[in-house]
Amino acid sequence: MTLVLKATGVTKSFGGLKAVQNVSIEAHAGQVLSIIGPNGAGKTTFFNCLSGIYPLDSGTVELAGKRINGLAPHQVSRAGLSRSFQNIRLFPEMTVLQNVLVGRFSRSPRQILASVLRTRSWRREEDKALARSKELLEFAGLSARAQAWARALPYGLQRRLEVARALATDPKILLLDEPGAGMNPQEIGEMMGLVKSIANLGIAVVVIEHHMKLVMEISDRIVVLDHGEHLAEGTPEEVRRNPRVVEAYLGRSEDQHG
Ligand SMILES: Nc1ncnc2c1ncn2[C@@H]1O[C@H](COP(=O)(O)OP(=O)(O)O)[C@@H](O)[C@H]1O
Ligand SMILES: [Mg+2]
Repeated sequence: MTLVLKATGVTKSFGGLKAVQNVSIEAHAGQVLSIIGPNGAGKTTFFNCLSGIYPLDSGTVELAGKRINGLAPHQVSRAGLSRSFQNIRLFPEMTVLQNVLVGRFSRSPRQILASVLRTRSWRREEDKALARSKELLEFAGLSARAQAWARALPYGLQRRLEVARALATDPKILLLDEPGAGMNPQEIGEMMGLVKSIANLGIAVVVIEHHMKLVMEISDRIVVLDHGEHLAEGTPEEVRRNPRVVEAYLGRSEDQHG
């Protein structure tokens, strides 16, 4: 197993509120690691810490052996970490294909200059980006909708488009924040398949998810957060049986989500 991301002792407070306290995870290539926990447990904040949106109070994050905490989000992205957001963040007035294309370009000043001058190497770059974006739409089952407006897509497909766009940077690791939120059971099943197939490409996948069925079926390992703390970790089976987890979360959650 290839270690892709190692987060150690990640801690983040907002005023007096300890949103994430001393949380450590390891994510491996080709594996799905899920992060579960009640609302307000600190899951999204933890993602924001990993992706450079929040500076850490303490702790370290290493990607492929290099420290990435302290880098800006676009630098983290360029280092190989990509993410989706809990709330959909597409460009509604662009086509499906354009949404993936823009995900491809992390805009360095040099790239912007090249695009303005339309240099030959830039046009080559553009052709490559277009081909890769089409591949990703195919992979996400969105090819037939490539020219549709993003806003015209049904909700479940917008979520898939978010995932396709996050893949556009060819990441080593993909963080997905509740990819199944607001989906019907059929859409959840399809999302499950997509997440699994991303891991099968050799990408490390870390998923925050509420739907227990989805989590149990796709995860190689699960980390449970509660009140910002690392409460438990293990295989789906180990986590399902852990009395602390059942007490803090799982029993309640299964009542809620069937
Ligand atoms: N930018 C912020 N400023 C202040 N408090 C925040 C901020 N972001 C999150 N929180 C608080 O941190 C805690 C964890 O939130 P969050 O990470 O969104 O939880 P989860 O994603 O597990 O539901 C919550 O109490 C939330 O209100
Ligand atoms: Mg959240």
